Amino acid sequence: MLVLGIETSCDETAAALVTDSRTVLAERVLSQLDDHRPYGGVVPEIAARAHLHHVDRLIAETMAEAGCAFSDLDAVAATGGPGLIGGVIVGVMTGKAIALAADKPFLAINHLEGHALTARLTSGLDFPYLLLLVSGGHCQLLAVEGVGRYCRLGTTIDDAAGEAFDKVAKMAGLGYPGGPALERAAAGGDPTRFALPRPMKGRPDCNFSFSGLKNAVRLLIESLPQPLSAQDAADVSAGFQAAVAEAIADRVTRAAAQFRARWPEGRHLVVSGGVAANTLLRQTLARVGEESGLELLAPPLRLCTDNAAMIAWAGIERFRLGLIDDLDFAPRPRWPLDPTAPAAVGAGVKA
Ligand code: KG4
Ligand code: ZN
Repeated sequence: MLVLGIETSCDETAAALVTDSRTVLAERVLSQLDDHRPYGGVVPEIAARAHLHHVDRLIAETMAEAGCAFSDLDAVAATGGPGLIGGVIVGVMTGKAIALAADKPFLAINHLEGHALTARLTSGLDFPYLLLLVSGGHCQLLAVEGVGRYCRLGTTIDDAAGEAFDKVAKMAGLGYPGGPALERAAAGGDPTRFALPRPMKGRPDCNFSFSGLKNAVRLLIESLPQPLSAQDAADVSAGFQAAVAEAIADRVTRAAAQFRARWPEGRHLVVSGGVAANTLLRQTLARVGEESGLELLAPPLRLCTDNAAMIAWAGIERFRLGLIDDLDFAPRPRWPLDPTAPAAVGAGVKA
């Protein structure tokens, strides 16, 4: 089985060809970082135009590299949401057009399901498993029971973890995108110099919150001599990173206990999303997993961040179950994986 995947929901334009034997035949990921850098964040209209400009070429290059024609495909999968709606529309329209012209089934993929199922592409993992999804737009803990079957154990009530990294990096003058810059700065810093809060630590639920921590960092930075010295910026970064890692560890420990109780056959903790690149977080999660009786599994970084192989793979998983979509599928700016989960209460709730 051969599926073309298309991803355009945020600031990466991507195409990939994946087989049901878990092989990525060819893929392209074009980052728009340089387009958005002058603005210090993703500008939706710029993102949509860039997707439109590049997506056809990236698909053509992917098909050519694999030596495939549209007639060889079994289906076409495109991210149908959640995400920035202009970009999602570009990907969905492109996917539908190819499906219609080549007379192939069309699959609208939930971007989060793409992240959630990546570990099955990279390691053939069985259900169920516990998933921590930490990206610029999402911060969730889910029990993955099967394709289309998710139980949300926790979510952020305000910012996503990556969003907090980006905002703190901006406040500390570290540039964009913030996560990698902040991690680099933290390497030369003292995580114990400043006392910062560990948000939600000890709470009985598995939810996250980062806006209080972000605010504490803002007040701390304002109290320091301006402009920040390199050492102050490093110490603030190290303190923030340690606070995030410890807060996430507490939430994951709690979720792992719930997961082990309800899904005792589950053996793995999977981490996905761009923040999974963070070394301290990975080390912390490996320890938490060990203490909780779950083995940490982190897909290779290029498949943790936004890409189209995960969309093609989710397409294969859905297609195998006969879950195809109609050509009148409407792009969805919001699309929770667990629609039965109660709305999280907090400012700026995303999912
Ligand atoms: O999954 P992703 O590529 O895009 C989506 O948000 O969907 O994640 C990007 C996020 C950004 O917020 C970025 O700052 C963060 O992941 N990030 C990191 C690191 N590398 C990327 N955060 C902390 N440490 C890193 N090394
Ligand atoms: Zn993503």
